Amino acid sequence: MFGKKKQKPEIDQEQFALIENAQRRVKQKKRLYIHFIIFLIGAIFLILANTVLGIAEEFKPFGLEWFVIAVGVWLFLLFNHIFNVFVTNKFMGKDWEKSQMVKLVAKQQNKIETLKEQLPETNLQKKITATVKPIKNLTIIVAAGENNEIGKDNNLIWHLRDDLKRFKALTSGHHIIMGRKTFESFTKPLPNRTHVVISRQKNYQVPEGVLLVNSLDDAIDAAIGDSQPFIIGGGEIYKQAMPFASKIELTRVHSTFDADTFFPKINKNEWQEIDSKVHDNNEHHNYAFSFLTYKRI
Ligand SMILES: NC(=O)c1ccc[n+]([C@@H]2O[C@H](COP(=O)([O-])OP(=O)(O)OC[C@H]3O[C@@H](n4cnc5c(N)ncnc54)[C@H](OP(=O)(O)O)[C@@H]3O)[C@@H](O)[C@H]2O)c1
Repeated sequence: MFGKKKQKPEIDQEQFALIENAQRRVKQKKRLYIHFIIFLIGAIFLILANTVLGIAEEFKPFGLEWFVIAVGVWLFLLFNHIFNVFVTNKFMGKDWEKSQMVKLVAKQQNKIETLKEQLPETNLQKKITATVKPIKNLTIIVAAGENNEIGKDNNLIWHLRDDLKRFKALTSGHHIIMGRKTFESFTKPLPNRTHVVISRQKNYQVPEGVLLVNSLDDAIDAAIGDSQPFIIGGGEIYKQAMPFASKIELTRVHSTFDADTFFPKINKNEWQEIDSKVHDNNEHHNYAFSFLTYKRI
């Protein structure tokens, strides 16, 4: 939603993973090459053993020379090895397993959140909710898919021009509160807005003009004079800020996405939809979406 990711000069996790993968592939191919050489030598030895040295000449399973069966079985194992190296490991290897795990964990997290919301509130939870006072005009602004997907690999999953325009129009001139990871997904701070970045790192370096705070409370305090401060993400911050917000500006993107970060479910007992506007897909927008405004009941 806000621009391309910052490039870090040092080798990052992604590069390490690529190097690891390349090393693994080289090892797999080396082992295959050794297997091939051993097969060639072994097959010649088996043929000579039977035809020249006459070993077990009269042993003819299924009416075939035994070396034909032995070499055939070995050839089958060699083809299986080739298939594993070039097909199974390439497409369904460790990387594939990892990405499947990430998807699974994200799905499970989403399910857990749904179950938590369905659980009846305990007395303690009721007390906690009662003590948290929503802050007037504190607005959450978010774009989420049909399954509340909001991001993947610290980036957005779509590019929707008119949603960006609306984001700009609504947030310009205001404080925008965000988690450190969302801030790092920007190329540079957005113009005409006061950035409040939340991080537990006391000496996290931010550019001049950007405010660094160490808690959500401090972020809200930093924006106290603003008539409408915005919480702009990401997943961790939305979750923590939900009880304090009094309005949600949601862009519901009408599709499902592969994601690793999600927006919390909007509890219809606490939030009322007060406005909605549908936007069709077109040459600038790959997906249809709706601008939905919710007010705390
Ligand atoms: N679709 C949308 O509208 C939208 C909007 C925004 C972001 N996103 C997406 O969301 C993803 C990023 O979300 P995220 O959940 O991974 O990260 P995030 O919420 O942006 O940032 C998490 C970081 O915030 C800091 N933090 C969180 N809670 C804190 C607390 N209570 N006190 C102090 N610091 C705290 C920590 O920073 P430290 O580790 O430095 O301590 C933590 O690692 C990206 O994919 C981004 O593109 C989507």
